Amino acid sequence: MKKAALNFVVLVCCCTAALAADNLAGTWKSVEVTSDGTRVATYFDITQQGDVISGMVHFAWGDLKLIEGKAEGNKFHFAAHQNNAHFSYDGELANGQLVMHDRSGATLTAQREPQGGFKVPTRIPPPALHTVPKNGLAATPPMGWNSWNYFHGQVDDAVIRSTAELMARNGMRDAGYVYVNIDDTWAGQRDAQGTIHSNKKFPDMRALADYVHSKGLKIGIYSSPGPETCGGYEGSYGHEAQDAKTYADWGIDYLKYDWCSAFRIYKDSEMRAIYQKMGDALHATGRPILYSLCQYGKANVWEWGSLVGGNLWRTTDDIRDNWEAMSANGFSQDELADFAGPGHWNDPDLLEVGNGGMTAEEYRSHMSLWSILAAPLMAGNDLSTMTPEIRSILTNPEVIAVDQDPAGKQGKRIKQATQVEVWKKSLSGGAIALAIFNRGEAATKASFAWSDLGVSPPGSLRDLWERREVPAGDQLEIEIEAHGVRMIRLPNPQ
Ligand code: GLA
Repeated sequence: MKKAALNFVVLVCCCTAALAADNLAGTWKSVEVTSDGTRVATYFDITQQGDVISGMVHFAWGDLKLIEGKAEGNKFHFAAHQNNAHFSYDGELANGQLVMHDRSGATLTAQREPQGGFKVPTRIPPPALHTVPKNGLAATPPMGWNSWNYFHGQVDDAVIRSTAELMARNGMRDAGYVYVNIDDTWAGQRDAQGTIHSNKKFPDMRALADYVHSKGLKIGIYSSPGPETCGGYEGSYGHEAQDAKTYADWGIDYLKYDWCSAFRIYKDSEMRAIYQKMGDALHATGRPILYSLCQYGKANVWEWGSLVGGNLWRTTDDIRDNWEAMSANGFSQDELADFAGPGHWNDPDLLEVGNGGMTAEEYRSHMSLWSILAAPLMAGNDLSTMTPEIRSILTNPEVIAVDQDPAGKQGKRIKQATQVEVWKKSLSGGAIALAIFNRGEAATKASFAWSDLGVSPPGSLRDLWERREVPAGDQLEIEIEAHGVRMIRLPNPQ
């Protein structure tokens, strides 16, 4: 009898163990070792009720709700969506770990977090607000190149060197593209003193900065006020002054500072104080380091960006290499015109010119729009395969001159008729630039009375893409390709 009872207990224990093994509830951490040897962590906070799974996935850049979650024995499926980002995972619980495949087919392994629960670092209170002294940089909108749009996580020392070398001899440097900026994925680990080191893609940052400088160019870097960058690399949280000093020691000339995981610690209303912290830190180094705020246009950044020492601030979500995304970013800037000026600029994001997702005509529109907006011109393409046509779009001196006009006035939309929009930018010395866009799907003709454009009839005008003087006529009459642009300069309009 006693023995039978014992057997019964053992049986119950086995059943409980089998059930427990099937239950995915808990926090699971998946550490992906990227090609550069750094580690990017993703956390899955899972609740399981019967065969229904719910919970959250925590990426460095955001927290998403798990949807479509279901379990069947040891197998499971769940997904997460945000805007255009879709994540889905199929896997099984095997040997106490989650082994899963994501949409790309990559295998992830997640271990159970022994402490349970996703941890947010202790909050460091934001500083009191004040005005950070100006650094005197960016009298005209910054121009250069940034690694993100084309290279993403594949940027390394060799890419930066070859880009700098190409910029010095393909006409870009001489056209004004001066900054060579490393975006996300360069950071490695901190040492015992808390000093940040680059990962093995960048063996020697100071030597790299020296090389870029030797080409007559400047070098930029990227970090986040949060503990992690958007890609999950080490951010500057709690190390602002130390990191600014490290950048200055390396010879860095430009910092893009990307909100990313700071959202877990601070509210949007605290952004000014948090950006001020790095503004102060950069100022304290004594090295002129151009300061680029990247927080996707939240919290009316244009109202306080220059007060934290910012030279430019993102006003939009990330651009993508298609007509719709480019248009959404560029054509939405009208109301922000008054906030831009010498030393401080609205930034509708990096250029996509040459990345292959748009036609040459669309890229001309992209370049024209950014120039009429006095937006930063940060090329984002692979310069080693750039065609002559793309190079001529990026380096057209007359279009660049509109962007770089010393008066620093951001252009505004002055006419909108069906698919045609006219944007006007006042240039120094009383000249005027007009960009007339056709946002429609078919070529069109448009005509405007000079008085409707707020200008006196000019004798002649300059077509900035055809690069020739053309007779002005009694009114402005133009043909514009689908998704195309005409850009003109009126030298003596008054
Ligand atoms: C954010 C920024 C991008 C880029 C990536 C890098 O999405 O908006 O410009 O810096 O992070 O992870």
